[in-house]
Amino acid sequence: MTAPLVYVLSGPNLNRLGTREPEIYGSDTLDDIHRAVVTEARALGLVADCRQTNHEGELVDWLHEAVDVGADVVLNPGALTHYSYAVRDACAIVTTSGRSLVEVHLSNPATREEFRHTSVVAGVATGTIAGFGLQSYLLALRALV
Ligand code: DQA
Repeated sequence: MTAPLVYVLSGPNLNRLGTREPEIYGSDTLDDIHRAVVTEARALGLVADCRQTNHEGELVDWLHEAVDVGADVVLNPGALTHYSYAVRDACAIVTTSGRSLVEVHLSNPATREEFRHTSVVAGVATGTIAGFGLQSYLLALRALV
């Protein structure tokens, strides 16, 4: 039997982790996160496909692809979290197809600026994990199993 596939998707500006506002996001780079995710996924009996894009439409396409290949999703939508109804609708396509989708954030948006307090994704996600840096991604994998 092949191991279940998980798409681990990150949105805009997350390719700048490591140097982007390290006091908020920490010093881990996205490569560090992806390496840790692949290792943790393997330990949990999953296969992780890790990707990042700065483009809303590409993220939507990857969410559709997750449905088509039967993958669960760990998603950090970045700022798209707060206003992208296109990403929200694509997440709803994932979860209504019977797949799980865990929304993750490195920081805890609820403790930050007012505009970050709204997630348009949360209402269609299976669950949300926020505020634990790199560990948010690893906890999301654990949640999936
Ligand atoms: C973020 C939080 C968002 O508000 C922000 O726009 C990001 C990163 C996080 O991981 O903490 O880009 O999703």
